[in-house]
Amino acid sequence: MAVLKIYKEVSDLVDALAEYICDLAEEAIKARGEFTFVLSGGSSPKKLYALLASEKFRSRFDWDKIYFFFGDERFVPEGNPERNSLMAENALFKPLAIKNSNIFKVDTTGTPEESAQKYAEMIAKHFGEKPIEFDLNLLGLGDNSHTASLFPNTSVLHENEATIRSVYVEEVQMERITMTAPLINRSRNIAFLVFGAGKSEAVFHILEDQSGSADLYPARLIAQDAEKVKWFLDGAAASRLTETVK
Ligand code: 6PG
Repeated sequence: MAVLKIYKEVSDLVDALAEYICDLAEEAIKARGEFTFVLSGGSSPKKLYALLASEKFRSRFDWDKIYFFFGDERFVPEGNPERNSLMAENALFKPLAIKNSNIFKVDTTGTPEESAQKYAEMIAKHFGEKPIEFDLNLLGLGDNSHTASLFPNTSVLHENEATIRSVYVEEVQMERITMTAPLINRSRNIAFLVFGAGKSEAVFHILEDQSGSADLYPARLIAQDAEKVKWFLDGAAASRLTETVK
């Protein structure tokens, strides 16, 4: 069963998640010499990234041993304000002067299919002979229950072979490059960062309601039954959950 951590205030949620990431990084670096951290896009993580780069946390990480990947990327040129990597650059990489060699961005200069293939190869190269198991996969949740770029009723939801796929998402009228559910589920740890009343319906469909299918509620594809999945929620996002789940 996934682990739910519910906080009244978003600031407490983000602080607790930063502490959790700190602990995971310390453990991973001690055990394997590095921390492979998959970042989520969208707007929710901005507060978290800023906190990690703040005086309170920046000195608690050995940043040279932390490698950053993206769970998904919008298929737009670097520098485009829609880019998840640009948001991370501004909130995290620049303030911490993270080396380019520690950042694995999606190259969107070719076709979407080429971009997905290149990203898959880039990730595989980093892991070499070792299995591709990220130490932490940070995920958001759309109010339509998508996560990464696994949107409802898209073909990528049934992808079981590829690790990275390109997909045209009608809903946002955009090509996306995304980690597939099997790749995300191989992560050692998965953390959902979800806050705000707008997400309460999606949270209910993922964590409590069993009706409908994962085609409608794609975040259900992420290992719901595993201790390694932790949901960091505020009270508003968790407001539709009954006491049986909380
Ligand atoms: C993206 C994200 C996506 C995001 C959700 C929630 O590229 O948009 O990876 O999966 O996490 O859409 O976005 P917000 O945090 O902006 O609500």
